[in-house]
Amino acid sequence: MFTTPSGPYVAVRDVNARIKESEFVCILGHSGCGKSTVLSIIAGLQKATLGGVVLNGTEVDEPGMDRGVVFQLPCLLPWLTAGENVELAVRRAFPKYGRQQRRQQAEKYLALLGVPECYNQLPAELSLGIQQCVSLARALSLEPEFLLLDEPFSMLDSLTRLDLQDTLLEVWEKLRRIVVMVTHDVDEALYLADRLLLMTDGPEARIGEILPVPFARPRRRTEVLEHPEYYACRSRIIEFLGNCGGGL
Ligand SMILES: Nc1ncnc2c1ncn2[C@@H]1O[C@H](COP(=O)(O)OP(=O)(O)O)[C@@H](O)[C@H]1O
Ligand SMILES: [Mg+2]
Repeated sequence: MFTTPSGPYVAVRDVNARIKESEFVCILGHSGCGKSTVLSIIAGLQKATLGGVVLNGTEVDEPGMDRGVVFQLPCLLPWLTAGENVELAVRRAFPKYGRQQRRQQAEKYLALLGVPECYNQLPAELSLGIQQCVSLARALSLEPEFLLLDEPFSMLDSLTRLDLQDTLLEVWEKLRRIVVMVTHDVDEALYLADRLLLMTDGPEARIGEILPVPFARPRRRTEVLEHPEYYACRSRIIEFLGNCGGGL
């Protein structure tokens, strides 16, 4: 519940879901329904008025190194190089690491995201897509159990977005961490996730439906697009979102 000048506003209510080990979950819903609110409660950046989040048996009420978060915009410190940005996170997550180890960790994750060459470059010298790869590397360099992504690709042009979806999928296949990703892109959600949590519109938005994604892994885009159930899943989601009112 948010306090607003026009009174209390209940953005989301009764959002209940259990996320399994190494699962990739997407939260889909219209703009303003409460997706970011749910994600930031999981991240510990906001507190739920009622209820809570339990991660591995422990209630979450503040941000922690077990959760790596990436937002729509990269949020890198502009005066540090890409490598230094990642090292800064490593320093907080692994205070015992020496300089050499911090550097190795940062290099490892930048390489995993396919951008090892940008180590010494400032964010302003990098495209938005590369900056977002650096943000993902920074989040993963914490070796978090949960990766929380809030529309991480929505500001990118469509070709870069497809590239980054592939990169994320490859990285996830290697690391198998739990991912909770917010998106309003139906095809992106179907390509990446194991399950989709479909949210109704607010106020008092809730998870209206949970849709398992039937495509085998490892996934290839062409195979997913040609899968006999692809269009049925897609139609189901679009119908759900259509019935919630508003446009995509
Ligand atoms: N700090 C806040 N104060 C008041 N209302 C808020 C605040 N944050 C979000 N809201 C409202 O809660 C609803 C859900 O917001 P949000 O979680 O950002 O939606 P989404 O990420 O799905 O676009 C919106 O109607 C928004 O205006
Ligand atoms: Mg949002």
